[in-house]
Amino acid sequence: MALRVDRIFKTFDGDDAKRATHQVFDEFSLDIADGEFVAVLGPSGCGKTTLLRMIAGFERPDAGRIIFDGGDVTGPASDRVVVFQQPGLFPWLDVRHNVAFGLQLRRRRIDWAPVDEILSTVGLSDFAGHAPYELSGGMQQRVALARSLVMRPKMLLMDEPFAALDAHLRHAMQIFLRELWQDIRTTVLFITHDVDEAIVLAERVVVLGSNPGRILGELDARDIHPSSTDLLDNPEYRRLRHRAVELLGEEP
Ligand SMILES: Nc1ncnc2c1ncn2[C@@H]1O[C@H](COP(=O)(O)OP(=O)(O)O)[C@@H](O)[C@H]1O
Ligand SMILES: [Mg+2]
Repeated sequence: MALRVDRIFKTFDGDDAKRATHQVFDEFSLDIADGEFVAVLGPSGCGKTTLLRMIAGFERPDAGRIIFDGGDVTGPASDRVVVFQQPGLFPWLDVRHNVAFGLQLRRRRIDWAPVDEILSTVGLSDFAGHAPYELSGGMQQRVALARSLVMRPKMLLMDEPFAALDAHLRHAMQIFLRELWQDIRTTVLFITHDVDEAIVLAERVVVLGSNPGRILGELDARDIHPSSTDLLDNPEYRRLRHRAVELLGEEP
């Protein structure tokens, strides 16, 4: 097991008199196997980002355990890297130095071979010397992904990374990510509120409900791929889509 979220509790205090204490998770559990690609699908505010932040180690559960690779998560580490919705690149560094940034924190002398290899993997070798603002949104997101992958993480934590992209780019990035994962087989937790995105990307879709965040059901989406051209004619895709919408609709 790569990740075990074991009966966690998480509440946020209301930040003023009007806001009551909010119980985001109440004995929530989730297991993710090594090399699995799991999407967590749920409506806005159900706790997806909070869950990801706890797995990343940015936030601690009030009770319960998060066990990654056999050890308790006590803080952020380079074996679990996060890819956010905004690429968050340094505008004063070129693409190559943005990708190398994490390695540089680890060690003063950078080994450029893995940096250039990962740039080639994400199809950006020709843009190594460009500044981030010279690239499209999709390319910037690929730089952000490369910057995470160069750390050789055991797990990629992705929080709606394509939500800011237009539909066309988003689809291209879905195909890209899925093919990349097929090569590297890193464990992926991908968070989205988009039913189609969850189904086309992940092998397993975990559908969350709110108040408190809880699993409404799971879908096996191994047979559906973002590169399929005739998805709408695919009965299995339609069945999964219908089931996801049904689960989400059961929300009180
Ligand atoms: N730092 C915080 N302080 C207070 N409330 C928070 C904080 N972070 C998240 N919340 C609340 O917790 C709930 C879950 O938030 P979040 O995990 O961001 O949901 P999602 O990512 O699914 O949209 C929301 O009601 C949100 O308002
Ligand atoms: Mg969120």
